[in-house]
Amino acid sequence: MTDIELRTEIEQLRSALNNYNYQYYVLDNPSVPDSEYDRLFQRLSIFEQKNPALICSDSPTQRVGAKPLDGFTQVKHEMSMLSLDNAFRDEDLAVFDKRLRARLDDDSVIKYACEPKLDGAAVSLLYQDGLLVRGATRGDGSTGEDITSNVRTIGSIPLKLIGTGYPSTLEVRGEIYMPLKGFDLLNEAALASGEKPFVNPRNAAAGSLRQLDPQLTAKRPLEFCCYSVGLVKGGELPTSHSQILELLAQWGLKINSESKPVIGIDACIEYYEQLLKRRNTLGYDIDGIVYKVDDIELQQELGFVSRAPRWAIARKFPAQEEMTVLEAIEFQVGRTGAITPVARLKPVFVGGVTVSNATLHNFDEIQRLDVRAGDTVIVRRAGDVIPQVSQVIIDKRPDNTKLVLMPTCCPVCGSPASRVQGEAVTRCEGGLFCQAQQSEAIKHYASRKAMDIDGLGDKLVEQLVKEKLIASVADLYSLDKQQLVQLERLGEKSVDKLLAAIEKSKLTTLSRFIYALGAREVGEATARSLANHFCELPGIMQASFESLIEVDDVGPIVAQHIVNFFSTEHNVEVIEKLLAADVQWPLIAKPDASQLPLLGQIFVVTGKLERISRNDAKLQLQTLGAKVAGSVSAKTTTLVAGPGAGSKLVRAQELGVNTIDEDQLLALLEADQ
Ligand code: IVH
Repeated sequence: MTDIELRTEIEQLRSALNNYNYQYYVLDNPSVPDSEYDRLFQRLSIFEQKNPALICSDSPTQRVGAKPLDGFTQVKHEMSMLSLDNAFRDEDLAVFDKRLRARLDDDSVIKYACEPKLDGAAVSLLYQDGLLVRGATRGDGSTGEDITSNVRTIGSIPLKLIGTGYPSTLEVRGEIYMPLKGFDLLNEAALASGEKPFVNPRNAAAGSLRQLDPQLTAKRPLEFCCYSVGLVKGGELPTSHSQILELLAQWGLKINSESKPVIGIDACIEYYEQLLKRRNTLGYDIDGIVYKVDDIELQQELGFVSRAPRWAIARKFPAQEEMTVLEAIEFQVGRTGAITPVARLKPVFVGGVTVSNATLHNFDEIQRLDVRAGDTVIVRRAGDVIPQVSQVIIDKRPDNTKLVLMPTCCPVCGSPASRVQGEAVTRCEGGLFCQAQQSEAIKHYASRKAMDIDGLGDKLVEQLVKEKLIASVADLYSLDKQQLVQLERLGEKSVDKLLAAIEKSKLTTLSRFIYALGAREVGEATARSLANHFCELPGIMQASFESLIEVDDVGPIVAQHIVNFFSTEHNVEVIEKLLAADVQWPLIAKPDASQLPLLGQIFVVTGKLERISRNDAKLQLQTLGAKVAGSVSAKTTTLVAGPGAGSKLVRAQELGVNTIDEDQLLALLEADQ
C-alpha cells in the first residue's frame, strides 16, 4: 500500500465510523450491525498502531484516553453560563409574557421555542474549526472544570462536526444526562457488586463526569443534547433560536426531538400540559419546560438580569423528589408468603400524586439505606414507578431511633419466617395457614384477569377471612346469604349481587382457572401456554418437570414451582373442592395447525405500543399459534418495535430479523382473527 493509499484508507475508515456513530447515538437509528462497526474499528486501530504519526484527535479510536488525570483544571467561561428564572404556575407564565411585551413596547404575539428541561449537568463544548477542543462543566457559571477527556467518551458528542459552514469558533451548550434505562442497569450492577447506587439519574450523570479516569466515564450510559450556543466567532448563525438548533443538528449534534417553536403564551401552556402527560414515557428525567424567545434580536434587546436571561423562563413540573418523615416500617405478607417491609410516610406530594407508602423491597434495602422509624427521608417517584425511599438524611435523625430487624416470625400468623440462602426475600413458612396468604390467594383468585368475581374486593376478602367465613378459594362457593347479610356494611342487595357473581365465575376457561390458582411465577401468559399445551387440567397437574420445560414461556424455575404447587396436598384438595362445586370450562380441542396461522413463529415485542397493551398483543399472538419470547435471537422471526425501542431493535437489525411496527402488528392480528 502506498502512503497515499494508506492515508486515503484511514480517512475513509474514520469517516465511515464517525458516520455510523452519528447514526447510532445522535439519530438513534443504527445503520450497520455492531459487528461491522467493530470490524472497521479494529482495522483502523491496526493501521494507527503501525503508523502512530497518522493518529489525530478526532479519530474514533481516540475517544477514551488511556491515562487518568490527577485533577481537573479550571476553565474560565468567556461568556457566563447562566441559569433560568422559574415559573410554577400558568399565571407566572402569563406575567412573564406580559412583562416581555411591555418591555419590548410591542403588543404582537411572541414566538417561543419550547424545550424539555433536561435533568442532568450543564456543559459547554468548544469546537475550533469543527474539532472538539474542550469540554467544561458549568461550575458557578463563570468558572467551570475542564472535563474534555470525559466528554470525548460520550457517543452522542461529535469529535468533529460534519458538513460545512460552521463558525471557526463555536461553543455549544447543552445537558449531559443519563437515560432511565441506563440508570437502572447501572444501579442494578452497583447493588450486585456491593457498591452504593446513585440516588437519581442527575447525580449519576454529574458523578460520571467528575471521574478522573475517562475509562470509567466511558462505561457510563451518558447522552448529550444541546440547547444553545455560547461563544461564536468567525461565522454567522441564523436569526432565530429554533433555526440555530436545526443547524447544530445538521452539524452532527444531538438536539431534543420534543423541541418545538410555538406562537404565543397560550400555546406554551398547551405544550406544557401535553409534555407533562407524556413525561413518564420519555425515557429520561425532565424537571420542567424551558421557554425561550425565539428571535435572537429580541433576545438581545431583552438582555439579562443578574444571572438569568430576561428572554427565557423555566416552568417547573411537580417535583419527583420530596423530603418527608418516615413514621413507621411495617411488614406485609404477600400471596406467596414474601414478607415485604413498607415505609409508612407522612403524606407528601411528589411526582404529581400524594404518597403515604413506599416499598422498601427487602431487608437488604433497609440495611443499605440504614433507614429507621422517625427518619427524614427523600422519596422519589419517577415515571410510573412505585415510590421509593431513595435516601435517608442522617443529619435529621432524632435521638433514640431503633435499628430495624427483619422479623423472625410472620407478623400475621406467627409462623417462623426464613430467608432462603441466596435470595433477598424472607418468607412466612405458614403457607395457607397464614391468614395473610389466604387473603392474598383469594384476592388473586377473584381478580379481573382470573375468575373475575365482581363485588369481591380486597377489603371484603380480608373481612371474610378474618371472620373465618372462608379460608381457601373453594370456600367461596359454599358461602350463603344468611352468613353474608350479618356482615357489617353488606346490604341484602349487594349480597345477592355477590352471590350471583360467585355463581357466574363457575363457568370459566382453563387458562383463567390455572392463572387463578396462583402458583408462583405462573402469570396469565404462562397459564395460557399451559392450557394450550396440555388442553386439560389432569395433564397439567401430573406433568413432570421435563414435560413442563417443553412448554412455551416455561423455564426451569417456573416448571419447578408448578411441580411443587401440584404436589402440595392442600392445593390438590382445594382443586378437588372447586371441581366438586362445579367450576368448569369448555374443553380445549387439540390445536389444529390450520387455525394457527402463526404456528412455529417466534415474536418479540419491544418499545411502546399505543393502541394495544403489550400483554394483549402477547396473548393475541399466542392465540394465533406464535411463541412470544423476551429477547431477540437468531430464532426470532419477527420483532414488533414501538417508539423508544432500543437494544432489541439494534440486535434484530444486526441479525436481519423482520421488524414491524404497531400498525403492521394490528393489521396482522386483524387479518388472522
Ligand atoms: S437554557 C440562558 N435550555 O437548566 C439559558 N437550560 O436552570 C440557560 N437545562 O443550567 C440555559 N434543559 O443545565 C436551557 N432546554 C434547556 C435546558 C436547560 C436543562 C438546565 C441547564 C441550566 C439549568 C438552568
